Amino acid sequence: MCGIIGYCGHRPAVPIVLEGLEHLEYRGYDSAGVGYVLNSELQVVRAKGKLKNLSEKFQQERNALTVTCAIGHTRWATHGVPEERNAHPHLSNSKRLAIVHNGIIENYLEIREELLQKSYRFASDTDSEVLVNLIEDRLAEEHDLLHALSAALQLAHGAYAICLLDRDDPNKLYAARLSAPLIFGRGIGENFIASDIPAFLAYTRDVIFLEDGDILVADSQNYTLWRSSDLNEIQRPAQQIQWNMQAAQKGGYRHFMLKEIFEQPKVISDALSGRLDDGRVLLPELDALPVPKRLHIIACGTSFHAGLWGQHLIEDWARIPVQVEIASEFRYKERLLLDPEQDMVLVISQSGETADTLAALRMAKELHVPTLGLCNVLGSSMAREAGAVLYTQAGPEISVASTKAMTSQMIMLACLALYYGRRSLTLADDDIRRHLERLQRLPLMLETALPEMHSMARQLARKYAQAKSFFYLGRGHCFSLALEGALKLKELSYIHAEGYAAGEMKHGPIALIDPSFPTFVLAPRDDLYEKIKSNIVEIQSRQGQIIVLTNAESDLHSVDIWRIPALQGPLTAFLLLPCLQLFSYEMADYLGKDVDQPRNLAKSVTVE
Ligand code: G6P
Repeated sequence: MCGIIGYCGHRPAVPIVLEGLEHLEYRGYDSAGVGYVLNSELQVVRAKGKLKNLSEKFQQERNALTVTCAIGHTRWATHGVPEERNAHPHLSNSKRLAIVHNGIIENYLEIREELLQKSYRFASDTDSEVLVNLIEDRLAEEHDLLHALSAALQLAHGAYAICLLDRDDPNKLYAARLSAPLIFGRGIGENFIASDIPAFLAYTRDVIFLEDGDILVADSQNYTLWRSSDLNEIQRPAQQIQWNMQAAQKGGYRHFMLKEIFEQPKVISDALSGRLDDGRVLLPELDALPVPKRLHIIACGTSFHAGLWGQHLIEDWARIPVQVEIASEFRYKERLLLDPEQDMVLVISQSGETADTLAALRMAKELHVPTLGLCNVLGSSMAREAGAVLYTQAGPEISVASTKAMTSQMIMLACLALYYGRRSLTLADDDIRRHLERLQRLPLMLETALPEMHSMARQLARKYAQAKSFFYLGRGHCFSLALEGALKLKELSYIHAEGYAAGEMKHGPIALIDPSFPTFVLAPRDDLYEKIKSNIVEIQSRQGQIIVLTNAESDLHSVDIWRIPALQGPLTAFLLLPCLQLFSYEMADYLGKDVDQPRNLAKSVTVE
């Protein structure tokens, strides 16, 4: 949801900012821009479309190579269409200040109105241009930019991560955050500000995560953190990032998505690492909390599907009733039926920054309900705010469509079900051992199966690429996977797809079936296998084409059987899910779509 970067140091700043933007492009990619001070004037170079359009413009801007301080932005449009005039950085009216902004200033229309009356003029439709002019307006009242920024931020409501450049003090960066991620990278003789760590990881691993209400001022040598409300100075130690740049590169794969799908065996091992001991699951983060009587899982997108899958295991193994809700629905319920004595809220988010999920977390905290965050990004808002945190340890996920993060979330949910199953004595030690043994077999099983899965996905994609619509069907724990399969197909290939509980087909959707409307059926050999076979036959009777993903020795005819290795129980999901991901990947790639950065999407949705 927009990526921002600022650099101040001893190297040419524009190439570093452009390189950083490449690593942030997953956050939004409908326009981009860079700002810097040259010959005592603020310059902005902006371009509509993907980053390469901006980089091409810099071929003509050779002078820009002399500057050593710059800010940059890659945009996912909220206010104003994706045109160059709405691209960041935005200048204040006097051209003294330039801003890059991620987030939404909710009261920008009122502020804009007040500024218009004071003769301010606006070249864009954005809330960000309003904010930079509000800061400029406050400069007239306050004695320096730090105070003007603090005063302006008291007036602006909403969410922001911003970075500012001042023409009159061109080797300094001003940054602030509220409900949008921002990280300070501390180098030697150079400093960075960015929405995400990969933007500067090639230069430093020393970071400070900005917190809500922080202002940071940095030049190449020094930095100071302030509390925005009263400008009290804050001391916060830096942290060391453990992963390196290799983890954030394609490593020989055509796309990040393919690399991330193939990383899943390792992701499973990493998520399990340190969690299993002598037939038990270790989750020391939860030992001090009581076993909840009811669990509410709240998430968005793919993380929501992981939550739905986890519901089955937690209900089945730990016998805890689970309700799974989409965060944007949960947060606007008039009455939340939560009881601090009985309930626990589990929020799931890869990024730990999804606005709706964070709002749900905050609501639960206000009601004093114990909260648990399941997230991937160290130091994210969710990690800081949840009562307890389980990290999924999937490493950086760059492709906009989530793959390995979901697998890691599912592993942790399986661990949670086993952990609570043991604590509430709903699982016998032998059952736990049996499940653990299967979990431990997964990385090797999946690693061995992935090449064959990939080639099957490629073959089927060629056969089905002309479809205009797809059904995905599953029962039991496979229903959540059907939803995820459909989501992956639509987000990557733009083919309409719907996930359905197979038993619901006959209540309406089956009316759509004809020879041009194929169905992808998840049919592992389990208690529901015979039921799903009946659904398959019903579709066949309407001349629908079918792909059946199964580990059973199938007696089905006239369908495309996609066989995966046999594994009993719901952990089969770890072999089914990569097939769905690979199928969508191959469909999209075959159709020439932008796999890693599908149109209209952003990886981290930090606005409502
Ligand atoms: C966006 C991404 C999805 C992701 C969802 C939730 O829509 O494109 O891939 O599943 O946000 O993100 P989170 O970081 O909260 O898991």
